[in-house]
Amino acid sequence: MSIHIEASKTAVAPRVLLPGDPLRAKFIAENYLSDTRRYNEVRGMYGYTGIYKGKQISVQGTGMGMPSHAIYVHELINFYDVKTLIRIGSCGSMQPNIGLRDIILAISASTNSAIINRRFDGMNFAPTANWELITVATKHAQNLGIDIKAGNILSSDVFYDEDPESWKNWAKYGVLAVEMEAAALYTLASQFGVRALCILTVSDSLVSGEKTSAQEREKSFTQMMELALETAVEIDTSQP
Ligand code: HPA
Repeated sequence: MSIHIEASKTAVAPRVLLPGDPLRAKFIAENYLSDTRRYNEVRGMYGYTGIYKGKQISVQGTGMGMPSHAIYVHELINFYDVKTLIRIGSCGSMQPNIGLRDIILAISASTNSAIINRRFDGMNFAPTANWELITVATKHAQNLGIDIKAGNILSSDVFYDEDPESWKNWAKYGVLAVEMEAAALYTLASQFGVRALCILTVSDSLVSGEKTSAQEREKSFTQMMELALETAVEIDTSQP
């Protein structure tokens, strides 16, 4: 048991998918996993463990933003020995060639937050995804017929930015999209020597102002979930 997760130590699988929304965790558990058990209800941040293609896997909601996300990631790694963490979430596109419902693998995550550089005396650490997870996810994307985009993303501390143009400087440097969690995930995974990847679907475009409907989000979320599940169960979590 940890402060925010009420599960016994063995109730969480060594591989965990991390949607921000706890109801997404419930949806995945109910629709994709068998022998499913809910191990967490603290703060309504549901966590489930079940079986996918013969392997144990957990799905844990993490909430929005890096402080909330980092609490769950820290506890999963340090109290539950989780070795592979895959965030699945939505993002806003910053590039004209990245459209609604596109799927992005975040190779790296820049950030406008002080949450990372405070760990490095104000210097800049480059939060990076695990290479094995990137290559396995790329292979499964091909198998599933999913056309992925891959590159640097922005993990932002603010959704409603006071300066509505601030994203444009990141876009100028080739950053693909904005979300609010990956930089913390990658930094903690690096600190504790485990694997992490963030897979995103584009829910809105900062370039065009378009937004997906709830129905469209559901469909693209399904593709991303399948990609994350296939990737997670292929990784041998007994290997460092
Ligand atoms: N900003 C931050 N996070 C997001 C966005 C956005 O525009 N869209 C989806 N997640």
